[in-house]
Amino acid sequence: MSDVLINFAYIFSAVLFVFGLKMLGSPATARKGNLLSAVGMGLAIAAVLLTKGLSFHYILIAAAAGGAIGFFAAKLVAMTAMPEMVALFNGSGGIASLLVGWSVYHYQPHGDMLTSITTILSVLIGGVTFTGSIVAWGKLSEKISSKPFLYPGQQIVNSVLMLGVLIGGAVFCMDPANNYPIFLIIVLASLILGVMVVIPIGGGDMPVVISLLNSYSGLAACAAGFVIQNNILIVAGSMVGAAGIILTNIMCKAMNRSLNNVLFSGFGSGTQKKSSGPQGEAKPISVQDAYYILEAAGSVVFVPGYGMAVAQAQHVVRELGEILEENGAEVSYAIHPVAGRMPGHMNVLLAEANVSYDKLIEMDVINPNMENIDVAVVIGANDVVNPAARHDEGSPIYGMPIIDVDKAKTVFVLKRSMNPGFAGIQNELFFAENTRMVFGDAKETLSGLIAEFKD
Ligand code: TAP
Repeated sequence: MSDVLINFAYIFSAVLFVFGLKMLGSPATARKGNLLSAVGMGLAIAAVLLTKGLSFHYILIAAAAGGAIGFFAAKLVAMTAMPEMVALFNGSGGIASLLVGWSVYHYQPHGDMLTSITTILSVLIGGVTFTGSIVAWGKLSEKISSKPFLYPGQQIVNSVLMLGVLIGGAVFCMDPANNYPIFLIIVLASLILGVMVVIPIGGGDMPVVISLLNSYSGLAACAAGFVIQNNILIVAGSMVGAAGIILTNIMCKAMNRSLNNVLFSGFGSGTQKKSSGPQGEAKPISVQDAYYILEAAGSVVFVPGYGMAVAQAQHVVRELGEILEENGAEVSYAIHPVAGRMPGHMNVLLAEANVSYDKLIEMDVINPNMENIDVAVVIGANDVVNPAARHDEGSPIYGMPIIDVDKAKTVFVLKRSMNPGFAGIQNELFFAENTRMVFGDAKETLSGLIAEFKD
């Protein structure tokens, strides 16, 4: 196929990627957006394969193996293990870029300056992404300790390693043909750097790290695109790079933490400043008494958090919601952007349980209306409803936007104990005048409430 036609196909693919990405922005259009992007990717692959002079022998084997792995991985993975799978996919992108850079250099060591620079970039970013993603996967799946691994002078060691790679890269670019040993050292150093930069970060912060590594995998692909002069790889890589960094930024903002704090503070190691914690007496309530209050409620807001995912309570929440509606109450679900442990965690679980999208209300929309809500039912959420974030400057979550459930007329908190959540701090909401604690596993409590309604 002529170069003009191939480039035309690339432009069309890029347009499909842009519209696909845009449609991923809303749950209602996300499936179509995903499909559109997949069609764009199919078209891009077809156009690449029509390039003259390719040997299909290995390509077909690799495509069949990759396609099969992708298909079964997507089919078999549990929804809750999605971040781990994304980590592995990012790692695959990283190692692919590293290998592309390496093989081009291996067969054509006399590249010009631009090719040498982009080769080093694809190797460096690809290597960091690969091993960093493997460590992130290990921490998330608890194959390795999810605690931050910290030692004195850690940042100095990492900076020296990074500086070494940059100096090595500069020396390499001056005379690539005669510097294979330096190239190999850079490959090794990038792989080590990936491990070193991710081990100091705690397991709870891994979703942010994975989003950042996703951005890196895009940048590595973009650099590899320059190495092999493939326009669609450059475009798609830049899009992934930009999308990853935007998501990272959104997650950091929603946690009111800077990216520096996520990467370097060792959050979760127990060394960061903690407030002394509110004191008081929590007021437990039985499922039956909670039922009497819910039965009389005209408006109910469910506020799900990480505990709903642990209890797998999304289906019973939906069932109780429907019963309450039949009983005449107005029911909605308030979604905090970082509730749970991955972006869109609550949306995904509630969508799985067939809760309709229009019932999911974002934090900024629900908060001004919270005073008019009869009962806010907090299901395994903790940090995202902690009022200390609004006023306690000593709290690690000070400044994080929260769902103002404390302003509702009555608050039920469904959790198993008085244990803290991700940030490791006690929650003054549990001691508030209008709060009642419904202790127990969230799924069991909700099933108990459903049984009361059915009796
Ligand atoms: P958390 O503050 O982590 O609180 C979860 C609560 O769920 C715990 O207090 C726990 O109390 C309860 N729980 C656990 N299992 C339960 C069960 N089976 N039944 C009932 N309750 C159960 O959760 P959150 O409010 O969703 O906040 C999320 C936190 O994660 C934030 O600090 C956020 O910054 C952080 N984070 C989020 C993300 C993303 S992208 N979502 C990424 C990184 C970090 P008991 O043990 O007493 O039951």
